[in-house]
Amino acid sequence: MKTIFSGIQPSGTLTIGNYIGAMQQFVKLQNDHHCYFCIVDEHAITVSQDRLKLRHNIRSLAALYLASGIDPEKSTLFIQSEVSAHTQLGWMLQSISYMGELERMTQFKDKSAGKEAVSSSLLTYPPLMAADILLYNTDIVPVGEDQKQHLELTRNLAQRFNNKFNDIFTIPEVQISEVGARIMSLQEPTKKMSKSDENEKAFISMLDEPKKIEKKIKSAVTDSEGVVKFDKENKPGVSNLLTIYASCTGESIEAIEVKFEGKGYGEFKQGVANAVIDVLAPIQEKYNALIESEALDEILDNGADRAAKTANKTLAKAKKAMGLGRVKRKK
Ligand code: AMP
Ligand code: TRP
Repeated sequence: MKTIFSGIQPSGTLTIGNYIGAMQQFVKLQNDHHCYFCIVDEHAITVSQDRLKLRHNIRSLAALYLASGIDPEKSTLFIQSEVSAHTQLGWMLQSISYMGELERMTQFKDKSAGKEAVSSSLLTYPPLMAADILLYNTDIVPVGEDQKQHLELTRNLAQRFNNKFNDIFTIPEVQISEVGARIMSLQEPTKKMSKSDENEKAFISMLDEPKKIEKKIKSAVTDSEGVVKFDKENKPGVSNLLTIYASCTGESIEAIEVKFEGKGYGEFKQGVANAVIDVLAPIQEKYNALIESEALDEILDNGADRAAKTANKTLAKAKKAMGLGRVKRKK
């Protein structure tokens, strides 16, 4: 069975975009892969965080993974900062990373542009991400398009380490989620829907109440044509709503177009809202049962234990290969 690793930052409540683009895929993947799902809180602190909000977001993300269908019997769900091998290997990989290649990362350039005080961890974040992945002998990393460059770097660092020291790391493959799985902003449908968007109307959070979901979808930007038809170029707003509808119901885009033929956007938007509400209602119910529960703590404790077993083995091999620490004496 192949090993999968993926991480999500606890930096705000997941959106319906995260659900469709990531969670839904993860839930399927866990049936025939060995999966690690990580709440990457150490990545989140590369930008300033409020400590109480961060702590809440970590727990909330864990509950959302489970409520969405991640099964702790099948997958290992854990918090990055609770497995110390991540920062340890992250440091070691920093020492074989070049300033030039880190400075070339698009995300670093975007996040640091025009800022006066940029934390150095924003620059050294990719070797930490590489450590996350390489600790588990990961074969496949499912991520969004924006992480492709970091995955390329991960592969280069793994190769570099293997060549320079010893053949320890598996070279991971990137798996970009399928086309159509990219959900766009409700307000600017040419831009990706993001949980950190300043305009709350641009995204649907997985924890939004039905009334709020309805309101946000009703105010989604469309066009003046009044025809429910998929045309990404000319009708990005309507096409995005069609993608959301299709992803939530499993119906084909064509079938939905037929269903709303000759009907206005008002009726169509109500349909989209209902589809989203129907998908999120049972998830929210499970989330509410989990969020304050001891069961959630147990799952995360077990997850961290399980992850640490594998991670510590890889870390020990990497330390030995690099010459860190001592060689254990034979007794
Ligand atoms: P992020 O919220 O950017 O940390 O992304 C976490 C995961 O959700 C990644 O695997 C992304 O591919 C996925 N994701 C984020 N936003 C979207 C979106 N608008 N549409 C589809 N997938 C998304
Ligand atoms: N950098 C990723 C993001 O911002 C999150 C992440 C951290 C990740 N470590 C990872 C994703 C390892 C996949 C594998 O979305």
